[in-house]
Formats: sequence, structure tokens, C-alpha cells
Amino acid sequence: MIKGIKGVKDILPEETPRWRFIEESARRWADRYGFREIRIPIFEVTTLFARSIGAATDIVEKEMYTFPDRDGTSLTLRPEGTAGTVRAFIEHNRSADPLPQKYFYIGPMFRHERPQAGRLRQFHQFGVEYFGTQDPKADVDVIALLWRFLSDLALPDLTLEINSLGTAADRAAYLPVLVSFLKGRIGDLCDNCRRRMETNPLRVLDCKVPGCRAATEDAPQLVSHLSPQAKSHFDEVLSTFAVLGIPWRLNPRLVRGLDYYCLTAFEITSSHLGAQNAVGAGGRYDGLVELLGGPAMPAVGFAAGLERIAMMLPETSLPPSLPSVYVAAFGSQGGPAGVRLLDALRLAGLSAQSDYRATTLKGHLRQADRSGCRFAVLLGDDEAKSGSAVVRNMDSKAQETVPLPDLPRYFLSLFKGF
Ligand code: HAM
Repeated sequence: MIKGIKGVKDILPEETPRWRFIEESARRWADRYGFREIRIPIFEVTTLFARSIGAATDIVEKEMYTFPDRDGTSLTLRPEGTAGTVRAFIEHNRSADPLPQKYFYIGPMFRHERPQAGRLRQFHQFGVEYFGTQDPKADVDVIALLWRFLSDLALPDLTLEINSLGTAADRAAYLPVLVSFLKGRIGDLCDNCRRRMETNPLRVLDCKVPGCRAATEDAPQLVSHLSPQAKSHFDEVLSTFAVLGIPWRLNPRLVRGLDYYCLTAFEITSSHLGAQNAVGAGGRYDGLVELLGGPAMPAVGFAAGLERIAMMLPETSLPPSLPSVYVAAFGSQGGPAGVRLLDALRLAGLSAQSDYRATTLKGHLRQADRSGCRFAVLLGDDEAKSGSAVVRNMDSKAQETVPLPDLPRYFLSLFKGF
């Protein structure tokens, strides 16, 4: 038997109602904040990701699915949506259109990570990208959209963790201070962090190894090395949260695993998720559009992991499933009348089904029970001849006779409100 790939999951019919509900809710919240959907390709040239995300990040160093095209061009399955959205923004000259431009996307992403609960190799993100304003209120809009969306789904124990990564100049001034601190603790750092100290020292602050965490407990913090410009941006973000009543927690270790960020960086975490505790994350990336060959263009965005949301979504958040009618038709006249009735119900906009293997009333009722339909229409030869069928409530077992032509209207009024 050929099996699916490790870390790449099927989403089975029992699970898809949960997914559809989350995706519909994401679209609704994106609409409310004025984000329009963009659909970008699943694969792009490798340099797009290497240049945007950063050559010395875990994603680019070891997690990308990269393969040569037939002409030798190196292609990569997208590990995230920001790079492709920025490429499309530049390629279609969207900066010539009125700003700001606000996009959202929903779709699969690919990273060769070690699979575990909430961490997959093919996973799905809902993301937004907001181009064209440096105003801290845009950062807040993006974060508030994610916060409101996740809270509306009633996900438990959410925390908004936030930090400022300063401007590029702030980081350039801070990094030597950090590296000199790390050099003093080099004996306590893991091998990976010793290497990162040279290639991407900020990431050492994000290491989960307990020894590294202890060693960097009193490391100098970037948030204490902000320029007046970065500090006032951050202060305005935080004070706007107060206006909205959205609680936050400063996390000076939050540095993000992608290199394009500046100023605001954030994650929304939940204690219900275990080790992979970020439900969604993002930040400002004012230099990326220009880095990829576009105009100077401030931008901010986030992406949320749909698998993690699906894992946490309480059953009570889901709407009840749409009611469906089971047509139990049997006999030489009942059978054809049943085919006509199924068609009439579906044309009226109702969900209707039958099991064609059942040929007796008893067989049909067993299937009706299994199908989860709330109502069954019992339609044998006698009913077909009389022009009326018996409607049976599958829960209460109450029955009622209804003329065949009236059945679509009968069910439509019964199911009103769904
Ligand atoms: P990220 O932090 O790499 O950011 O991913 C965002 C979210 O995607 C994570 O918080 C997590 O919920 C989910 N996620 C990431 N990797 C996996 C995985 N292997 N399995 C399951 N879920 C995963 C970005 O991707 C940025 N592009 C976000 C952004 C948009 N920043 C600005 N705009």
C-alpha cells in the first residue's frame, strides 16, 4: 500500500466542517477590516524565499522543499505567504494603485520540520499583508484582526506577546552588544546557538534549550536599545491596544524566525498548544518590498496556522450541521417517485439523500439512522399511488402525512433559520 508522506495529513470529511467554519470565519474577519483575497502560487523561484526570509534562518537553511525545474531553475514550495504576496505586489505594480493595499490569503505552506502535534510539513495559513502605511495604527489593525478572529472562535487561553525589533540601524547598534554578552556565556550555549552567534545572533534569544535560556536570562534587551523613532512607534502601538481593550504581554525574547521584520513583532500563543504554542504571528517588514526590487513601501502582516486553530476550536463554537432529508423510497412505483422527490428537494435548495442499496422500509430506516438525517420521507407504492408520503422525525419518531408536491415547501419552512 502506498502511504501518505510523514507530516502531510489528509483532512477527512468528519474534520472538514471544522475547517470550513474556520476559513469562513477568517474571510469574514478579513472583510470586516478591508482585506481582499489574493491567490498566489504554491511554488516560486528559490531565490525569492532565500532573499526574503534570510539565508541564515532555519527555514532557508534546512526546511525548504527545493527542486530543479526541467530547465535547471531552482524552485521551492512556498514555506510562507509573505514573500509571494510581496513579489506579486511588485510584479503587478500595485504601488501605483491607491494605497494602502490590503491582502489576505488562505492556503497550504510547506516546511521540512520534524512533525509533532501542531507541526506539519504541509500546513495551512490564513495570512494578511497591509502595504503602504507606517502608521502604528496599521500594526494594531493587523494584530486586532487576528485577536478578534481567534477570540470569536472562542479559542482558550490566548496571550498576545509583543516586542519591538527596532529599526535596521537600532539592530546594527544592538547586535555587537548582544554578541559581546553571548561571548561571555559561550560555554553555556548549545552547539546550534554557538553557530547562530556568528550567523544570526538574535535567534539565540529564542532558543528553547533550558541551558541557553538560563544563560541569556539577563542578556541586554533590544527593546531597551530602541531609537526615539522606534520607541514612539512601539508606544503608540501599545497605547492603541489600551483604547481597544486588547491585553498584551511584553516578551523581550520574541525575535521571530524570519529576517524581514523590523519594529513591531508579535505572536498570539495558547497554553493549550504544548510546545508549538504560537497560533499566529507576524510583524512589520518595512524593508522587504524594496529588498525585492520594489519601491520603498512600509508593510505589516501576520499568518495564523489553521491546524493549530482546528486543534483548539471548542466543539461548542461550531454551528449545527445543516439538516438533511433521507428519502426512503421502495417498490415499483415508490422507487421512481423517490427519484423525483430527491430531485425536487435538491432543486429547492435542500440537502436530500438516499441509499440505493436499501429495498425495504426496514433497510431504509437503518440507513436513515446512520446517515444522521433528521427526517425521513417514507415512500412506498401505496404512498406513490395516493400522492402523499409519510414524514418521520428520526429523533421523536413522530410521523405526519404530507402531499408529495408540498414536501419541498414543507421542509423549507421546517428548516428556516438554518
Ligand atoms: P511564521 O511564524 O513562520 O510566520 O508562521 C505563522 C504561523 O504559521 C505560526 O504561528 C503557526 O501557527 C503556523 N505554522 C508555522 N509553521 C508551521 C508548521 N510546520 N506546522 C503547522 N503550523 C505552522 C510566517 O509565516 C510569516 N509569513 C507571517 C507574516 C505575515 N509576517 C508578516 N506577514
